Formats: sequence, C-alpha cells, structure tokens
Amino acid sequence: MPTCLTNAIVVANGKGGVGKTSVVANVGGLAAAGGWKVLAVDLDPQGNLGRDLGYLTDGRSDRGQALFAAIQAHFAGHREPPEPLRDVRPNLDVIPGGTYTRDLNDILARHTSRNLDAIKVLQAVLEPLAASYNLLLFDCPPRGDLLQDAALAASRRLVVPTTFDDGSVDGLTLMAEAVQEARVRNPDLELLGVVLFNFASQARQLVREVTEEVTAGLGDIAPVWRPAIRSAPRAARDTRRRGLLAHEYEAAALAAASSPRDGQRPVDQVAAAEIGLVAGSSRRYSSAAGTLAGDYQQLADQLLEAFVAGVRASTPQEPQR
Ligand SMILES: Nc1ncnc2c1ncn2[C@@H]1O[C@H](COP(=O)(O)OP(=O)(O)O)[C@@H](O)[C@H]1O
Ligand SMILES: [Mg+2]
Repeated sequence: MPTCLTNAIVVANGKGGVGKTSVVANVGGLAAAGGWKVLAVDLDPQGNLGRDLGYLTDGRSDRGQALFAAIQAHFAGHREPPEPLRDVRPNLDVIPGGTYTRDLNDILARHTSRNLDAIKVLQAVLEPLAASYNLLLFDCPPRGDLLQDAALAASRRLVVPTTFDDGSVDGLTLMAEAVQEARVRNPDLELLGVVLFNFASQARQLVREVTEEVTAGLGDIAPVWRPAIRSAPRAARDTRRRGLLAHEYEAAALAAASSPRDGQRPVDQVAAAEIGLVAGSSRRYSSAAGTLAGDYQQLADQLLEAFVAGVRASTPQEPQR
C-alpha cells in the first residue's frame, strides 16, 4: 500500500467549533466550481457537512452507511469502495457522515486494539476511488478520536483551522501529538497551512500573536493564511440553514438586491456589492455576505495553490526531450 492518498487533505483540529466543516464545504465547493474534481468525506457523526452543502435537509444523506459498510466489508476481507453521493454540486461528490459514523469509530477501536495498522483502513477503502478525483477533503470529528487518526494516517496534507481563544490554541499541542503518531504509518503527512477562523477583525497585532502561538503549538513551520475568515455569525447561520456556500449565498443576496419586492427600488448589483449588500436586499441576507465569500475565495486560492505546489514538488519531473 502507498504511504498515503497523495491527493488528500485532512482538515482537523481536535476541537469543535473551529471551522473544519465550513472550510471543507467552502474550499471544496470553490475548487469544484473552478473545475477540480473533488470528493469530500465527512467523518463527523454530526453530519454537519450535509447542512452546509444542503444534502442533509433534502434527505439524500445516507448518514454514513456507505463508508460504514465498506469498512466493515474490508475487515471481512471484501474489497468494495463506498459509493459516494454524486454531484452534490457540479464536480463535487461527497461521502456523507452521520449516525453510522459513530459505530465506525467503535469498529476501528476494536480492530486497532488488536492491530495498530488497522488505522490504515480508511485509506485502503478509498484508494480505488481516489484516482477519479483531483482532491479529497476529510472533515474530521470534534474530538481527536480514531476517525481523525485514520484520516491523518491516510492524507498527504493537513490543514488546521483555529479560532483565537486560548482553548483552541492549546488544542494545537494535542494536534501536534496526533500528527507525530500518524507519521509512524504515514511519514509523508505534512502541514499545508493554518486557517484563522471566526476572527472579529484582521488586526495585524492579533493575527501576529495567534500566528506565533499556532506555529509554536504545532511545532512545525506553518503558513498561516490571511485574511482570516472573518466573524459573520448571521451569514454563517443563514448559509448553513439554507444549505448554501458563502459564494452561493452572496450570489443569492446580489440577485435579491437587484430584484426587490414590490415597492422597493432596484439596486445596481455592482453598487450593492461595494456597499456590502445592505441597500434593497430587505435584510433577507446578511450584509457580510460579500465579505465572507471574499474571505473564502482568498483562502481557497492560497490553499489550492499551496496544494498544487506540493504535488509538483513531489512528482518526479519527466526528462526533457
Ligand atoms: N464566519 C463565521 N463567523 C461566525 N460564525 C461562523 C462563521 N462560519 C461558521 N460559523 C459558525 O461556527 C460554528 C462552527 O463552525 P464549523 O465549521 O461547524 O466548525 P467545526 O466543524 O470545527 O465544528 C457553526 O455554528 C457555524 O455556523
Ligand atoms: Mg464540523
């Protein structure tokens, strides 16, 4: 078996509420919109990825059953990759998580207690699928449990989102330990970068302080991407409730601003974007829609660029003719 899935990124922190799911959904969605073939894998029993992408509320989620069955089959000696939920967006397929994912953790516990190599099962069952995609993204559960370990053991790259409260930054030390542990079975695992999530401002001093703590906590030289994903509670709540990604929410807000309800004056789309979409949108959309979409676009651009640079660096060059 290869050391890892070379096109996989695990998004993990070991803590909940730090933006893992939001990052997987939005970066995956933007990559797919840009023409990448993307597979997102939800390893969280809460299945929140299905809320952000809208496939939970419309009943398409299998609550983790496909992955559960594939892993169980693998341990019984049968090789059958899980069938993803196709075309959640153009170019974006998903392996959902949910109640079955919790049982998966129990199965992993049973097998790894006898043989630590069993943690490689996630990589093994996804290997036949991986070649059909440019990018695999793992969304991890909140606690540093065995599914997180399995994703770390399977991935070439790690992205760590963090908020700036003490607990989050402290959690990074545990994350660093999990990475060291994972490298026993996956020596190629490397930190791709850190996402600053839910920041109240882009204040340089604050960002610099957090950057220093993050780098110390992970014990690794980590690019910390800027801008941070700014705090936008209403937009975040709205997007998740509607199953829209930040750029889709922005597009919906722009459309609403340019086609107001009766008795309201139409608003020029460009002007609406410039002022943050307040005028004419009848408060149905958060004024932060444009900001949030812009933050994710910049994050996705940098993250994907770093990913491509890493792939290039590790691919042997063809001899020049
Ligand atoms: N830009 C934002 N500002 C404020 N809150 C946000 C923002 N983006 C997402 N949230 C909210 O933060 C919470 C945690 O985000 P989530 O991506 O689910 O984190 P995790 O997957 O690490 O638990 C969610 O309730 C989400 O709606
Ligand atoms: Mg989550």
